[in-house]
Amino acid sequence: MSLIATDKVGNLDAFNESGAVKRGLPPFAYTSEQFWEAEKNELFPSSWVLVGFAHEMDKPGDAMPVNVGDNPIVLVRNRDNTIKAFHNVCRHRCLKLVDKAQNVGRMLKCPYHAWAYGLDGELRTTPYFGGEDPQSVPEGFDPKEHGLKEVNCAVWYDWIFVNVSGDAQPFETFIEPVKSRLEGLDFDQAKLVGVIDLGVIDTNWKFLMENFIEPYHVQFVHSSTTDQPLVDHYTVNDGHCQGSAVDLDETDEGGDGSGDTLAVSSRYLTLFPTFVFGRYFPDQMGVHLNIPLGPNKTLQRRAIYMTDGTELDAESAEKLKQLWVDVHKEDHEMCIRLQEGRKSVVAQSGGVLSPHWEDSVRNFQEQVVAAVSE
Ligand code: FES
Ligand SMILES: [Fe+2]
Repeated sequence: MSLIATDKVGNLDAFNESGAVKRGLPPFAYTSEQFWEAEKNELFPSSWVLVGFAHEMDKPGDAMPVNVGDNPIVLVRNRDNTIKAFHNVCRHRCLKLVDKAQNVGRMLKCPYHAWAYGLDGELRTTPYFGGEDPQSVPEGFDPKEHGLKEVNCAVWYDWIFVNVSGDAQPFETFIEPVKSRLEGLDFDQAKLVGVIDLGVIDTNWKFLMENFIEPYHVQFVHSSTTDQPLVDHYTVNDGHCQGSAVDLDETDEGGDGSGDTLAVSSRYLTLFPTFVFGRYFPDQMGVHLNIPLGPNKTLQRRAIYMTDGTELDAESAEKLKQLWVDVHKEDHEMCIRLQEGRKSVVAQSGGVLSPHWEDSVRNFQEQVVAAVSE
């Protein structure tokens, strides 16, 4: 990948230096409004971005507003059970159409002048738009040309992705690096355990991603919640898929993923920019929904699934959720301190990355630079 030191986002000379030990992104990539603007305007809109869980809008007429960068988008479940995404603005005066998750019935109706759209986005009614007759339409106005603007949307299992620019790679190509590593996992068997709301974390979204894809910290940060020795890990670097994996001999561990600690073979995979997929053998997977809210604020939720169809009883489900809350809290604490550390002059150099354990982080950062430099 060729790196461009771009004036647009700041000086990347140190980041671009060659050598065995590479530097990390400079602080402005995590703190500056200018870099955040470039991510909002270019990186997120041009990517496939995870925006929601399909099980949270499971009835026809369910509508959920989300944002990609600054773009308000609304997800709508149709009568044929498919989910579509539209720019969330009325085509009359561009009012934000849906302001909270709700079931809209058969129509998306604008509260301002009552224009109404079908769940397919077509403009159905524009009362009094042409004059005193409620049905009147001004001459030359074709309602067909004023339906909601559709946004590329794809649903993979429980996960809803959108691509606002419409020119990201084909969705199948996007998910292929994770799909090809499912190792026999059958989504038809999977059962949702629940979603944990981890709240707003005072850190840049990239720190949460970088933290997930490097195994270096695991044995130090998660010493009480996991039992996964560093030397059993390896990193995964496959184009836009970064991550790490650990292979343990299950018979030695006695951990089954529903106990007090995590001591199982795992796959930690991401798809650039924000999709996070964790597989914990033999029977668990989790997906993080990371919603960047600003240079130093990220909202995070995690959906937990049993992959073998087991329905956990309430107590086991709570125990499992609590384990994950504890693991995430340990990570959040580090990510918040990474953000704090960016205020120091010493951080200007970007720190250094292990060529062995943090090559995944470096590859992720190079994709960030490429995406905001385009
Ligand atoms: S802005 Fe929606 S009907 Fe007027
Ligand atoms: Fe961690």
